[in-house]
Amino acid sequence: MRVHVLGSGAGGGFPQWNCHCAYCAGLRAGSLCARPRTQSSITVSADGERWVLINASPDIRAQIESFAPLRPARALRDTGIAAVLLVDSQIDHATGLLMLREGPRFALYTTPAVHQDLSTGFPVVPMLSHYCGVDWHAIVPDGTPFEMAQAPGLRFQAFALSSKAPPYSPHRHDPHPGDNIGLLITDPATGGRLFYAPGLGAFEPHLRAPMSEADVLMVDGTAWRDEDLIDRGVGTKRALEMGHLPQSGPGGMIEHLAAFPRARKILIHINNTNPILDEDSPERRQLDAAGIEVAEDGLDLVL
Ligand code: MLT
Ligand code: MN
Ligand code: ZN
Repeated sequence: MRVHVLGSGAGGGFPQWNCHCAYCAGLRAGSLCARPRTQSSITVSADGERWVLINASPDIRAQIESFAPLRPARALRDTGIAAVLLVDSQIDHATGLLMLREGPRFALYTTPAVHQDLSTGFPVVPMLSHYCGVDWHAIVPDGTPFEMAQAPGLRFQAFALSSKAPPYSPHRHDPHPGDNIGLLITDPATGGRLFYAPGLGAFEPHLRAPMSEADVLMVDGTAWRDEDLIDRGVGTKRALEMGHLPQSGPGGMIEHLAAFPRARKILIHINNTNPILDEDSPERRQLDAAGIEVAEDGLDLVL
């Protein structure tokens, strides 16, 4: 299986268009040792030809151009994207669907909870019916394996994550299993396994088995502390309130990841308020010491 990180940033990306904080301004000025990051998306393929886009970010146009296997090459108009899967209905994961309107009808895999959000509060699916249209495939977030006819050779399992539906969701205050999922993706031909969860609010018992099986854990890197937004002076929301487990402190991501000694550990969905963006920071050294990497746009894995 090939895995390619298209976007390693959280919603807003890095730098964020309207942000003049020390990190965003430092990146623009070249005074901060950090890399720009587009918004949250990866793509996976068993054969290197047919790619599953996992999350469709607002930056999708540049992301497709950045990765040759997704660009048109086989016909006057075509794409390497064979199917699209979304882990939630957040703006940073779903807005890019609209950019696919010029192409053919495509297969869209989401849970029923996400499909409902994308048919009501953020009605991308009915909008697309006036352009290319989508064939929706329901994901049951109970670990049942499924394959995609459009992109053969990979087995997917989805696990419900306790999280929050977005502000525009009709069930914002009434959590449904499937508002957010983690994925275990297996290539049966190589035995390679990736666990991907850019929105991981808690280490729940049902995640222990799939996470233990994975060769690579690519998990939520949104926040260093629960108070990152407050610390940076840019907001009042806490990471846990938004369904993201902070990395530091007791019960944090670093502590939990230590329970998976065999796996390569990579943080993804890094918010523009997280001090780990600064490659010279003490927080980054703490991750290095714990054997935890930070995803960058363009990162490639072969599993
Ligand atoms: C999230 O995952 O919580 C989102 O990135 C937040 C947002 O885009 O506003
Ligand atoms: Mn997000
Ligand atoms: Zn900023």
